[in-house]
Amino acid sequence: MCAVKKIAVTGKGGTGKTVLATLLINMLAGQDVKVLAIDADSAMSLPYTLGIEVPSTVSEVRKALVGSEQAKQSLVDGGPTKSVMRDILAKGDGFDLLAMGRPEEPGCFCAVNDLLRFGIDSLTGDYDIVIIDGEAGPEQLNRRVLRSIDLLLVVSDMSARSLETAAGIIKVAQNYEDTERVKHTGLILNRVRDDVPREELLKKAGVPVFGEIPEDDDVNRYDREGISLRTLSADAKAVKAAADILKKAKALD
Ligand SMILES: Nc1ncnc2c1ncn2[C@@H]1O[C@H](COP(=O)(O)OP(=O)(O)OP(=O)(O)O)[C@@H](O)[C@H]1O
Ligand SMILES: [Mg+2]
Repeated sequence: MCAVKKIAVTGKGGTGKTVLATLLINMLAGQDVKVLAIDADSAMSLPYTLGIEVPSTVSEVRKALVGSEQAKQSLVDGGPTKSVMRDILAKGDGFDLLAMGRPEEPGCFCAVNDLLRFGIDSLTGDYDIVIIDGEAGPEQLNRRVLRSIDLLLVVSDMSARSLETAAGIIKVAQNYEDTERVKHTGLILNRVRDDVPREELLKKAGVPVFGEIPEDDDVNRYDREGISLRTLSADAKAVKAAADILKKAKALD
């Protein structure tokens, strides 16, 4: 068993967080490990890229809990609500998926994030490895939804703004490293193309690169056509790159 159990993927919006999380989940699903996938983004992309339907979401559970004293108490006890979390897991081929879902009323993101944290914390013990597709930006780190993370992968594309955001998130995460929130952080460069002056850009970001994923037309086409990324060939450039990232993650202590 590898030391890295909980991997969270974050970064600026639209940089490839969901693509990377999907490729990691897909690879692990084919291995002899119990995999929990978490869609911690209210935009709910992971079910599409993984090609799976979710029976219910954390957000829907929260809606049902509002106003029910008995249900609130069960949250405190940590008993029945864990089973509620288990009940809303989508069962995939080689993995389970917990989805945060979309909060329907405005202004209730905090509560949903609290419940999501509870869901992640209570279910993690039942699995060998947990992959979290997080929301864009550092907010879920600050809200401690992403805590006790073994490896935080911060995705950036090849733009200066995206790298700056990534560097900012890494700074936030590194402040938490001593308090057990994030053990390792790594910058992932995505959509890498040869024609971009990378060294200059990277100097601006000022953080070392953990892994790189090349621009892969198949990834983009599958997403455009709504085809699950799970059906990408093992030879696809992005799949091979994700395999290298997973290998490196497994070698961490
Ligand atoms: N390596 C890649 N090659 C080609 N296209 C890519 C690659 N990585 C991501 N994309 C494309 O970029 C777009 C954004 O990717 P993705 O949805 O994974 O980003 P995200 O960071 O999860 O976005 P959001 O912040 O909205 O959740 C998608 O259309 C996806 O197909
Ligand atoms: Mg996403």
